[in-house]
Amino acid sequence: METYAWVAPTEMTKGLALAETFGDPAGEITWGRIAGLRLRFTRDCIGPGLGCSSMVQTSESREAAYWDQWNAENRERGQSEVSHRQAYFVRKWLDQSSRRDLRILEVGCGAGWFVDQLVEYGTVTGVDLSPTVLERARERVPQATFFTGDVLDVDLPLGSFDVIVGLEVLSHVEDHQAFIARVHDLLADGGHLMLATQNRPVLQNHCIIAPPHPDQRRRWFSRDELTDLTGEYFSTVRLHSATPLAHKGYRHIPTAWWIRRGLEKYLGPAWARAWAWPMEWAGWGFTLMYHGKKKPNGSRTTR
Ligand SMILES: C[S@@+](CC[C@H](N)C(=O)[O-])C[C@H]1O[C@@H](n2cnc3c(N)ncnc32)[C@H](O)[C@@H]1O
Repeated sequence: METYAWVAPTEMTKGLALAETFGDPAGEITWGRIAGLRLRFTRDCIGPGLGCSSMVQTSESREAAYWDQWNAENRERGQSEVSHRQAYFVRKWLDQSSRRDLRILEVGCGAGWFVDQLVEYGTVTGVDLSPTVLERARERVPQATFFTGDVLDVDLPLGSFDVIVGLEVLSHVEDHQAFIARVHDLLADGGHLMLATQNRPVLQNHCIIAPPHPDQRRRWFSRDELTDLTGEYFSTVRLHSATPLAHKGYRHIPTAWWIRRGLEKYLGPAWARAWAWPMEWAGWGFTLMYHGKKKPNGSRTTR
């Protein structure tokens, strides 16, 4: 049986020393990847914060590997119109505060492309399961702080953020209620939650979407389900959809991407946005954009 070492997230220095001692057979030991990874070694290696086990790939490590690959393929080299529109609304909401000293947490920040924009508004912390893309994000956005891991477990001070942003992450966490309670606890009093999450009725009834990958959790929300989920902890400030989309039925004509592209090219981006806005308001958008304000008395359930 092969022996594998594990490295606790708090013991990265020991992990690197271990890698130096025993070599790097998988060729993958770096600061960004070592925490939480199961690394294969040929000799036993045990100490505080380090351990050995026979290798059984856990569902957590498979999920992290899946998101690593997904982010590398879908986000690192550029973002879709859907992502740009999500970023547009979050920035619009942040611009209204006129502040440049906000303490911002982006949960599920993936490749860090939006962290790169959020740093304009203050100090930014990013958390994600994907170790390798986060390592590259650290290099690209050195002024931000990144943590690898589950946002429910990462050691962050409670009540220490003015704004928490999550683009397309809510639908991929295991326990949605615990996620909302956790971001509530991490926000300072009066803090703001800004989420972008897939709009279930649109994706189910008007789009053709591949079934989820076996290592991907996926549960979409409707507008009402999202209000129910967040209601105990947040008062809704805004909730609307973004990026009209349909592959089926009559909706696919007004939502066609080439109409928006044409308007943008020949008349300017404001026209493309004006075309999209009534459909977004009517709930035809791929994404639900949620902006909530922390309720002072939401119950605290942090683990
Ligand atoms: C669909 S991707 C979106 C990535 C990024 N927000 C974007 O819009 O490009 C979902 C991301 O959520 C992250 N994620 C899922 N569950 C998480 C959790 N419990 N804690 C932290 N990140 C999580 C995944 O690793 C993945 O990068």
